[in-house]
Amino acid sequence: MAAPRIIAVCNTKGGTGKTTVALQLAIARARQGKKVWFVDGDRQQTGALALSLRLEQKGKKEVPFATYSDGKSLQFNVRKLSDQFDTVIIDVGGFDATTMRAAMMLCDLLLIPFQPRSFDSWALPKMHTLLEEVQSMRGEFPAYALLNSADPNSVDNKEAEEALQDYPTMKFLNCPLGRRKAFATSSGYGLGVDELKTRDPKAVKEVKDLVKAVFGDEEEEANAKEQ
Ligand SMILES: Nc1ncnc2c1ncn2[C@@H]1O[C@H](COP(=O)(O)OP(=O)(O)OP(=O)(O)O)[C@@H](O)[C@H]1O
Ligand SMILES: [Mg+2]
Repeated sequence: MAAPRIIAVCNTKGGTGKTTVALQLAIARARQGKKVWFVDGDRQQTGALALSLRLEQKGKKEVPFATYSDGKSLQFNVRKLSDQFDTVIIDVGGFDATTMRAAMMLCDLLLIPFQPRSFDSWALPKMHTLLEEVQSMRGEFPAYALLNSADPNSVDNKEAEEALQDYPTMKFLNCPLGRRKAFATSSGYGLGVDELKTRDPKAVKEVKDLVKAVFGDEEEEANAKEQ
C-alpha cells in the first residue's frame, strides 16, 4: 500500500499533543528526503511559529509551511497544492473548528493523539461522533488514535486499546510517545528529537517507530520493488 500523502492530526480536546506529533512527523519525513508541507489550521499558529524558528537554525532540512484560519481556505489550498508534495501534514486547533472538519474531509489518514486516562472523558465519544459525521459525507477512511505523553512503563497503552474498542470509527495505533522533555524542547524550536544536541534515544526511537507505522518501511518497500 502506498504511503498516505495527506495526514491530519486532530482531536477536539486541546493540549493532547497534536502540534507535537504533527511537527515531529513532518520533520522526520523531511529528513528522509521527502517534500513535506506543514499546514497549520490552528489560529494560535504554534506549529508555524516553531517552523519559523527552524529557519534560524543552520543546515536543517526545509519544511515549508502555511497557515489557514478557516476551513474553506484550508480545503481550497490543500486541494490545489498537495500534489506538489510527498507528504502534507495538517495540524489543527483543539476544538471542533471548521479547519478540523476540512482536514478530516481531505486526509488520507487521520491521527488522533490522546493523553493517558482521558479515554472515558468526553474526548473519545466526541471524536467518534465527529468521525461518524465526516464518514457519512466522504465514506470511510483510516483513523488511528495514539497515546501521547504516556508514562514510561505504565499500563496506559493496554487501557487505551481497550477503551477504543467501544469506538469502531478509530483504530488503535500502538506507537505511544512518552512524556519526555525532548519532545517539548525540540518541538518548541521546530526541531526533530534527533536534531537536539543532547539526544534522548528513547524519544528518537518512539518517533522512528511512529514514522514507520504511518509511512511504512522505506527499505522494505525499496527491496520489494527490486525483486
Ligand atoms: N510527549 C510529550 N512529552 C512532553 N511534553 C509534551 C509531549 N507532548 C506534548 N507536550 C507538551 O504539552 C503541551 C501541549 O502539546 P501540544 O501543543 O503539542 O498540544 P496540542 O494538542 O497541539 O494543543 P492545542 O490543542 O492547544 O493545539 C506543549 O507544551 C508540549 O510541549
Ligand atoms: Mg496545537
